[in-house]
Amino acid sequence: MATPAKSIGRGPDHFINRIGLTVVYVGELLRHRAYTRFLHWAYGIFFFLALISGFGIYMPWIFRWFTPLFGGGAMTRMLHPWFGLGFVFFFGLQALNWLTLMAWGPGDTRWMKRLKDYVTHRDSIEPPDVGFFNAGQKAQFWEIVGGCIAYVTTGVIMWFPEIFGRWLVAVSYVIHDISALIMLAGIFIHIYLSTIGEPGTMQAMTRGTVSEAWAWTHHPAWYKDVTGRDPQQALEEARRKLNETAGVSGK
Ligand code: HEM
Repeated sequence: MATPAKSIGRGPDHFINRIGLTVVYVGELLRHRAYTRFLHWAYGIFFFLALISGFGIYMPWIFRWFTPLFGGGAMTRMLHPWFGLGFVFFFGLQALNWLTLMAWGPGDTRWMKRLKDYVTHRDSIEPPDVGFFNAGQKAQFWEIVGGCIAYVTTGVIMWFPEIFGRWLVAVSYVIHDISALIMLAGIFIHIYLSTIGEPGTMQAMTRGTVSEAWAWTHHPAWYKDVTGRDPQQALEEARRKLNETAGVSGK
């Protein structure tokens, strides 16, 4: 059974949400509406275009096979800043879309202190106060916001070197490249967690939904918020049902 998700969920009622139908099946929750998913994949594509063209320019002795993809070295140099601006533009819209969800709270500082427990999967479910995004996701979001500011500022200086002078251009190269490397490392972790690291997450950015089990496991406070049910109780009930169907006593 499917329920078209029109009025539930977050984000502005953008026209993309009205034309992009998100179907929520029984046992699922609406996570990201069409507008959010559109922005995510738009800046995702521009990020990789900027990255590949950037590496072609930055390390031609290793990545010279990237530049023919964009029509040669000169064309790659011409296109790279535009890919970067495309990335910053779409990420900027997402930043506005997610601003309130990404606000840092005392629970996030506590989450950071138990990062080791998160990495080692010490508990079956996340602490009860983990809401729509956890502190790791928020930290990465703010790192990308900072990266975008650094890219645009240093990128413009490098784009028009004759205006800014040698010293500023040289410093900009260093900051630009360090920002790219930091973001790249973060994106590797992001892709790992969104795919094999936490199965069921990818669906949030493709179909826009997640299973209830995913929600009570990774974002218990959000699960409680949207369903009114207790995440710990939901986990225990699911375990009990699983044991019953497996013919094993849960006690
Ligand atoms: C193949 C590449 C990518 C995959 C598979 C992917 C997957 C995902 C998924 C599944 C989510 C939803 C997570 C949730 O709802 O909890 C998400 C969120 C997000 N994505 Fe991506 N993404 C990719 C590339 C990127 C890129 C290139 C950027 C930016 C440079 C980015 C930035 C974000 C941010 C800031 C969020 C929200 C916070 C978070 O979940 O970390 N993503 N992504």
